[in-house]
Amino acid sequence: MKINGKHEHTIWLDTENPGLIHVFDQRYLPHSIRIFNISTTDDAVYAIREMVVRGAPLIGVTAAYGMYLGCREALDRHDPTEYLAMVGEKLKGTRPTAVNLVWAINEVMDAIAIAEAWSEKISLALKRAHEIKEEDISTCQRIGLYGVELIKQITSRKEGAVNILTHCNAGWLATVDWGTALSPVYHAQKEGIEIHVWVDETRPRNQGASLTTFELVEQGIPHTLITDNTGGHLMQQGMVDIVIVGTDRTARNGDVANKIGTYLKALAAHDNNVPFYVALPSSSLDVSIKNGVQDIPIEERDADEVKYVRGLDGAESKSVLISPKETQALNYGFDVTPAKYVTGLITERGICEASEEGIKILFPEKFD
Ligand code: MRU
Repeated sequence: MKINGKHEHTIWLDTENPGLIHVFDQRYLPHSIRIFNISTTDDAVYAIREMVVRGAPLIGVTAAYGMYLGCREALDRHDPTEYLAMVGEKLKGTRPTAVNLVWAINEVMDAIAIAEAWSEKISLALKRAHEIKEEDISTCQRIGLYGVELIKQITSRKEGAVNILTHCNAGWLATVDWGTALSPVYHAQKEGIEIHVWVDETRPRNQGASLTTFELVEQGIPHTLITDNTGGHLMQQGMVDIVIVGTDRTARNGDVANKIGTYLKALAAHDNNVPFYVALPSSSLDVSIKNGVQDIPIEERDADEVKYVRGLDGAESKSVLISPKETQALNYGFDVTPAKYVTGLITERGICEASEEGIKILFPEKFD
């Protein structure tokens, strides 16, 4: 997708230095476009943990390139195998909820297992990281192609713009390109369908207010920023035609972990008969977890993210305290929406019911 009219990916290998990966530093968006360089595994760990990069698919791709850098670093170590295993564990420990992280690290480990020489392992790791990146692009594109059909169905029964509500940022910045939940929106725009997006601000880190809005401005898509508490009212007033959100991990039974607050939107959608869809790349599917509500690990982040809000003061980016300093705060990053509130999962292989049976029809090999 575009920044300043130029097509970009969120992550890329330097054209001249094979030991250097570039990403957009999402901590500074929307006010400043900065590139962050990843040249060591510690940089990759930092980028994921500090949310320089974020969003389940992009976290996975970054970890894959981190493992490639780990193979390069392993070359000089006394025990390269042990060193790489340690890098894998460090990367896995950065964030707990998005399953793409562990998935991508395991994919690279599997890909390099066939080689003996470390020089060959390095090439295989880079090849697999590139493939994971490319697969993410085509997966997201396909999610868009299936998802746009839902938007088209709405246009056949109403006049004017289709109103789509989304939570957090599951646009291209959370992936490599296209996004998950926003991919159907971008495809609708390409097809000339009149759309309007309600963007939840998504406290505490405001990925909706800072990232989803940035993407939609850059893409020229009509949108309105709302506080996290507004969605239910809009749904009661018939102002939302469809909700589409992303997911960081979806369990075997169709329960969906996504950014905190998603569950409340699903409840409101259910109460108001508004279709509630989840854009699910198969890299975010975790069939090893039978019951998502019970067993998906939920990240708990620093309480200061709740107590402080970051924004622009004139030209200066500032963090301001919005509660008494001594107030205790609790900061869960994600919640789990039970499958019964999910109208369907939009995947790269089509749309299915949010249930084990539904998922199995599209991804039988995951259940082997
Ligand atoms: O904490 P983040 O910003 O890494 O969370 C990721 C998200 O933006 C989402 O929960 C998203 O909707 C799913 S990832 C496409």
